[in-house]
Amino acid sequence: MKYPDPHDDSSNLRADQDSDFTRLVEHALSRRRFLFGAGAAGLGAFFMTTPRVRAVQAETGTVATAPVTTAAPASTLLGFKAVPASTADTVVVPEGYRAEVLISWGDPIFADAPAFDPAGKTPAAAQERQMGDNNDGMTLFMIDATRGVLAVNNEYINPELMFAHQGREMTADDVRTAQAAHGVSIFEIVRTDQGWQVDQTGRVNRRITASTPMDITGPAAGHALLKTAADATGTRVLGTFNNCANGHTPWGTYLTCEENFNNYFGTRAAAFGPTPLMERYGITARDERYQWHRFDERFDIARNPQETNRHGWVVEIDPFDPQSTPKKRTALGRFKHENAELVVADNGQVVVYLGDDERGEHLYRFVSQGKYSDNNKEGNRELLSAGTLYVARFEAAAGELKGKGEWLALTHGRHGLTAENGFADQGEVLIKTRLAATRVGATTMDRPEWVAAHPDRQAVYCSLTNNKNRGKKENQPVGGPNPRPENPYGQIVRWMPTGGDHTSNTFEWDLFVLAGNPGVHQGDLYAGSANINADNIFNSPDGLGFDRDGRLWIETDGNYSNEKDFAGMGNNQMLCADPQTGEIRRFLTGPVACEITGLTFTPDYKTLFVGVQHPGEDLAPSHFPAGGDSKPRSSILMITRTDGGVIGA
Ligand code: FEO
Ligand code: CA
Ligand code: CA
Repeated sequence: MKYPDPHDDSSNLRADQDSDFTRLVEHALSRRRFLFGAGAAGLGAFFMTTPRVRAVQAETGTVATAPVTTAAPASTLLGFKAVPASTADTVVVPEGYRAEVLISWGDPIFADAPAFDPAGKTPAAAQERQMGDNNDGMTLFMIDATRGVLAVNNEYINPELMFAHQGREMTADDVRTAQAAHGVSIFEIVRTDQGWQVDQTGRVNRRITASTPMDITGPAAGHALLKTAADATGTRVLGTFNNCANGHTPWGTYLTCEENFNNYFGTRAAAFGPTPLMERYGITARDERYQWHRFDERFDIARNPQETNRHGWVVEIDPFDPQSTPKKRTALGRFKHENAELVVADNGQVVVYLGDDERGEHLYRFVSQGKYSDNNKEGNRELLSAGTLYVARFEAAAGELKGKGEWLALTHGRHGLTAENGFADQGEVLIKTRLAATRVGATTMDRPEWVAAHPDRQAVYCSLTNNKNRGKKENQPVGGPNPRPENPYGQIVRWMPTGGDHTSNTFEWDLFVLAGNPGVHQGDLYAGSANINADNIFNSPDGLGFDRDGRLWIETDGNYSNEKDFAGMGNNQMLCADPQTGEIRRFLTGPVACEITGLTFTPDYKTLFVGVQHPGEDLAPSHFPAGGDSKPRSSILMITRTDGGVIGA
């Protein structure tokens, strides 16, 4: 999402002087030397030396060597013809592929729901029976060979598109409609002769909104900091909102991740000042965008300050039981969650990788206390309620784009997480996850977005989408996996757990790609790594996911101005990469002012569902998907091959 720029860590207490910045940048660039090399065996070999990315003389006077100088072998994983960049208000897919719309914001997901009304006056009761807005992460769970249930996040709304008054004259009813458009949409889809279609009579169809009752579970459940006037127990909360990306478990549940929850809180109480904890999470009195606090006391932070602590979690949902109560999983930490990538370690412990998407925030890992077992259905369902949360520290020699790393436990009583430092117990460590991460010395990252584990489980990838503050703030020095001042383009870091063991506390890391623009920049890291060229340029990698064969799918949420630093990149897009060769090929381009986000496949990998989010945001000239002079609407696409083959092959 773009407005109101939720990723700015302006609340963090750090130096931000332009004069300092100039000095920092010059220093960083002058001392940089580039070392590229293989991480784990078989990985990293695509980082070739080129004229624009080469070893330069180090401060010490030695010359760093770049080990691989041969051309990358042609990919055998990628079988499609790349599409060019596009600024058109449409979706473009490769020759031999087709893209169709499955569902758009406002479409009925129950047979008794009204059709979408573009007039901008939809009541909450109707929106609660329709597809929510701004579809983001999603997972398809199969019921049988021709029927599945699709669980889809509805991250936020665009007031300028949702309401006839474009958000300028919000009422209590408008706020209820907006709350009903958030959360998660769950609906059955069936395969017909015409492809997959929504079944409005599906048994499990359900809308989860910003008002749905949920349980708070795990170490922070019942904590004094989670108690409010409406819930003296600190264990029951209404709703989930700003559900960005997602995850799923081998026991058949859906994970929805609360990201920029801070934007929904505010107050008009003149005397109110946010606490340091609120400031670290970006919670301020000001909220002109959603204005929920004006009409719903729960969101007024002067009246209900602790309501804020009840959001920013991962929520586990049983998509097969519409009567089930969603569970907020406090063991996975409280921050601006992106997605939740789950891997079952060799010993059966469940490992979940988690990014905190804000400039200068961190990358996390949860390791369950219990172990997964195919035969223990009830036990599996509690695996995310107890375990250890860790945060990543990356290490590298100056100028190197690879190195080692360590997972630091966020456990009460260790690493300074004590009562005298403001952490009375494990619940408080989790409620204040960001503060705990800083205390233990975690590495500040360039906005960790999605994490994806390769199906061979040897390497895990994370999009670091961009960071205009890199090198400008004292706590965000240039180096390691965040090697560029002001980083406008983003990169994908990957790490290889020691011994292939995801419970190991150490790893090696390298960069899979540095996005960049070789048409604008030459001779420095802003040109991008060697696997970036004129035909595949992009910025701001965000959504990530592997398919069964190990193709890495990359979705972008970046600058679509198509000018200056971003000239030639066009609209947001989806690319596909071969992790072995490093080749990256553009697969899809989106319509005007959209972000491409969310992906899930059918089990045969012959249908790919992809999200087009906020086309026409800020009243940009989009009429996607219906065309003409229609209102633009976030939509889920179904992508298939005309020959019925596997997507990407
Ligand atoms: Fe909702 Fe970080 O993207
Ligand atoms: Ca995202
Ligand atoms: Ca993003």
